Amino acid sequence: YEKLDVRPLRQRLLVVANRLPVSAVRRGEDSWSLEISAGGLVTALLGVKEFEARWIGWAGVNVPDEVGQKALTKALAEKRCIPVFLDEEIVHQYYNGYCNNILWPLFHYLGLPQEDRLATTRSFQSQFAAYKKANQMFADVVNQHYEEGDVVWCHDYHLMYLPKCLKEYNNNMKVGWFLHTPFPSSEIHRTLPSRSDLLRSVLAADLVGFHTYDYARHFVSACTRILGLEGTPEGVEDQGRLTRVAAFPIGIDSDRFIRALELPQVQEHIKELKERFAGRKVMLGVDRLDMIKGIPQKILAFEKFLEENSIWRDKVVLLQIAVPTRTDVPEYQKLTSQVHEIVGRINGRFGTLTAVPIHHLDRSLDFHALCALYAVTDVALVTSLRDGMNLVSYEFVACQDSKKGVLILSEFAGAAQSLGAGAILVNPWNITEVADSILQALTMSPEEREKRHRHNFVHVTTHTAQEWAETFVSELDDTVIEAKLRTKQ
Ligand code: ADP
Ligand code: G6P
Repeated sequence: YEKLDVRPLRQRLLVVANRLPVSAVRRGEDSWSLEISAGGLVTALLGVKEFEARWIGWAGVNVPDEVGQKALTKALAEKRCIPVFLDEEIVHQYYNGYCNNILWPLFHYLGLPQEDRLATTRSFQSQFAAYKKANQMFADVVNQHYEEGDVVWCHDYHLMYLPKCLKEYNNNMKVGWFLHTPFPSSEIHRTLPSRSDLLRSVLAADLVGFHTYDYARHFVSACTRILGLEGTPEGVEDQGRLTRVAAFPIGIDSDRFIRALELPQVQEHIKELKERFAGRKVMLGVDRLDMIKGIPQKILAFEKFLEENSIWRDKVVLLQIAVPTRTDVPEYQKLTSQVHEIVGRINGRFGTLTAVPIHHLDRSLDFHALCALYAVTDVALVTSLRDGMNLVSYEFVACQDSKKGVLILSEFAGAAQSLGAGAILVNPWNITEVADSILQALTMSPEEREKRHRHNFVHVTTHTAQEWAETFVSELDDTVIEAKLRTKQ
């Protein structure tokens, strides 16, 4: 046993995710610039330091020519990234289609896009074929770079078919798979035409992880009800082979945020923001412009609050920073115009010649600007209709140790399970409840704010991204060692 348990000092990791931590922008035939990608998966994984990690993924661009591919591969190698090149048709069918038009809404309980329902059903088979093809392309690249002893950690709904492809290449590979979204009730999952294929391929992994115990339980129920397999306290068993299933709640690199607040440029930014919004309470929303984030619901709740609390109208401002995402998917395009329309209407209704109640930005903020904004905020509003975890809520808490602002948090975000005791929990569909919670947050006593903040701050600073990754990887190691011992007996 001891012999099997010898682990390298710095475990070598192959992190496989659809999205690389950097996205590429072409500057010339053979020159590229790299920008940090947005989203919780990248944020969490960038917080993981103590591994010898290499990333395999898509750089977010189509690179049809060999010159471009070579130059990009070289530029990415400096960041320890290895690209998977996907052509336009695959991106259209796999990424825009199967991943973001089918799996993403379904896993977040939003169903299929309403008016496209029939069209989606018709194109389902070809999109699923593209999904499998893309997963096979990821597997090919992993296989080329795999060295004995590596741990292969696959991420998210884009790559549910990958564990099976990898095990077909090499049954001895240690393969883990982690889902960054909710896993829905088995009643939802069973509506998916490819429901069994996806479950079976995920089960090829040695360890399967989710953010919360509920998501893990839903996955096990789907395997027992749809595949007729046996669920055990450890996971799912199929003909004597056990796939471990467990919850590993993710975190952030909280120190990075706390340290950033000390930097002169961030302090300067904080000062500017305080001057700019002097005399007004600052409310903040930071989201990818995604329908799961409940941005229209949040803004409508803010309107209701202004309607019912006229004395607050010139004393509060809502800053909504919404980075555009998945802009080739029609549902996302519709959402952008819907949000613009609502913001315009409310600003027209409650704005004055000198001030508007909502500042809506359709863009990404750099890290320092984001930290400064979090630090000056009085009330953060996270109103996700469903969310795997929601790291924005963690980032806000990390930056609030001097201000001790209030977090209003959707009960449908995974984070409600960890930050629920410190936040005001709301049902984002209930606009009156959210409007009331805004008033409660703005008028909360300093003692109550301190108590709530302390609870959340302790959680965010102790349950970090590093700890999350270490727990997952060491559990994966143990799982593989135990399985080897079982087969030897
Ligand atoms: P998701 O993974 O669905 O995008 P999370 O809340 O878990 O949701 O993570 C979002 C990440 O993306 C956070 O690290 C957040 O700081 C970042 N982010 C989201 N919107 C913006 C924005 N407008 N500008 C800068 N960063 C953003
Ligand atoms: C969520 C998903 C990630 C994804 C991110 C950004 O966090 O769980 O897998 O990378 O959104 O979305 P995008 O489609 O731009 O990669």
